[in-house]
Amino acid sequence: MDPCFELTDRDGLARRGRIKTPHGIVHTPVLFPVLHPDPARQLVTVREIRERFHVEAVMTSSYILRRNEELAQRAIEKGIHSLLGFDGAVVTDSGAFQQHVYGEVEASPSEILEFQNAIGTDVATPLDLFVEPSSPREEAEAGVVETLRRVAEARKIRGDRILAVPVQGGLFADLRRKSAEGSEPLADILAVGGIVPLMDSYRFADLFRMLSEVRSSLAPEKPLHLFGLGHPMLFAFGALLGADIFDTASYHKFARRLSLQFPQGSMDLDEVREDFCGCALCDRNPLYRVREMSLAEKERAVALHNLSQCLLEMSRVRHAIRRGELWDLVEERATGHPALQAAFREILDHPGTFLATEPPSRRHFIVRSPLSLRLPAIEKFRRKLEEYRRWPPSLAEIATLEVEVRRPSEPSPAREPEAGGPAPPAPTPIGEVPRELLELYPIGSMVTPEEFAAGTDRSSPANPAGTGATRGVTPLRHALGILRWAWGPESEQVFRSGKVTLRYSRSSGRLREILINERPAFVVGNEGIPHPTFYGGELLHSVLPAPVHRVVANEDASSFVEAGRTLFSQHVLSAAPGIVPFEYVLLTDPRGRLIAVGRALLASHEMGRFRCGVAVEITAHRKSSPAKSPD
Ligand code: GUN
Ligand code: ZN
Repeated sequence: MDPCFELTDRDGLARRGRIKTPHGIVHTPVLFPVLHPDPARQLVTVREIRERFHVEAVMTSSYILRRNEELAQRAIEKGIHSLLGFDGAVVTDSGAFQQHVYGEVEASPSEILEFQNAIGTDVATPLDLFVEPSSPREEAEAGVVETLRRVAEARKIRGDRILAVPVQGGLFADLRRKSAEGSEPLADILAVGGIVPLMDSYRFADLFRMLSEVRSSLAPEKPLHLFGLGHPMLFAFGALLGADIFDTASYHKFARRLSLQFPQGSMDLDEVREDFCGCALCDRNPLYRVREMSLAEKERAVALHNLSQCLLEMSRVRHAIRRGELWDLVEERATGHPALQAAFREILDHPGTFLATEPPSRRHFIVRSPLSLRLPAIEKFRRKLEEYRRWPPSLAEIATLEVEVRRPSEPSPAREPEAGGPAPPAPTPIGEVPRELLELYPIGSMVTPEEFAAGTDRSSPANPAGTGATRGVTPLRHALGILRWAWGPESEQVFRSGKVTLRYSRSSGRLREILINERPAFVVGNEGIPHPTFYGGELLHSVLPAPVHRVVANEDASSFVEAGRTLFSQHVLSAAPGIVPFEYVLLTDPRGRLIAVGRALLASHEMGRFRCGVAVEITAHRKSSPAKSPD
């Protein structure tokens, strides 16, 4: 069964999305609590998991279940959902990890997969060979080859199950890539295995470097599971690197040793004298009182607390993705432990991992520490600025026939002269920036500690990129600068097609709208970028060489897109290279006729690959008559 993975929001490599299973939709990034197949061994009941925590999917071990003959028989007769008493999605692991730890081999890989089929799991996992991070190369390579052989076999006998395919390879980047590429055509879900030892020894920098290296070889349209990455302090990092699925047995394991999990780290229950948690469970059962309970009660209370913290952190991650604030959360989490700080630096050392999906803007750019100025948003701006500086100077400044400036507050002449030539570039926290670009994200949205330092009057911003930042350049130069920045140097030709009117906002004083021949052509967003109306799109379409900034819809979808319907990924014929999520694009039909303007949700390399979900939301379109959607 195709889990029909689709995205609804994203931030960097992180995605919010949906996976279909025979037992309901699962919202990602998701955490699967791991359940012991024997309910008697569970500290938290299934009922609590479903009713109190609203969990959509759980994971259990087919290996442990199969070893218990009586339970295994019941699972075959009643089905795994009924055995567990859980009506949501059930994911079964193959037991590779347990086999690796306990060294027992009692069943063939195909028997283990057939067993998962027989108990009616929603997601089955073939039996992989667990490769240790310390494994020598020959051993790691043999593990990868054997795992791929077993996966190919599993693919034939999986029935109608969703197949999660383990990717092994230890710390060898090329072996991980080989494993990822070999798994891709066979997998519904890709699962990175062999990472628990890195987590247990706090080798987060090695873990995240390996994930960055393998990311581009993992098909973006398939959900990505990080096997066993079950501590809440790692969820934001995992999601940032593109993981969609996590599982945790650790809420339970930690409870057995009375260790409390928090997104900032762990702590022994014994050390707690105050009730500072505030989670719903600790509220009823304050931590200082838990210390005085019997061992069995303590374990249960800690397990509930741990699971609550894990699920809460995963909700926080989803919320942060939705708001475009995941980097903020990661930066905060990185302060929890030096190993996380080291891992964060490792991530920042490889900004290239993120650039293909780095959005053109976010709500804010908050400078929390000197490391903030190394985030991919800054790296992207720097690279683009180098390119911008290499472009030939604008000719439209000379050739634009007529410019009218409409400022509600201060009436200005049609052309504001630049006294003594153009103003020099402005100093900013990331170096000198031409003044016409100062309102652009991240410079224009930057919130820095300097602005709030003692003695700073916020009504006259110290931040050079504040309101009025573009003073010193003519309105025409500013408008041309941001147009060329967003749409490339050729786009300035749209200013040569007639009279240009620049309309400024009454409240913010910022450029808000660009009209050409008195028709609205661009609306300037808060992030400083001009977004085309349909008319603006037509002007751009006539001056920009194809395929830049274009997404081509297939024949089936074109008439719907033309009438304003969303363009779904499966209907994308082609997309220009370099399109990133949340960027505005021009949509054409297969013959190259402009049919709409929209905002991409997928990057170029993802369009058409996702079989489900939105590729581009339409913001303006050619025809206004509604049509029936093909989906
Ligand atoms: N659980 C934790 N790590 C692994 C792994 O590498 N493979 C499988 N199948 N399950 C795991
Ligand atoms: Zn708590």
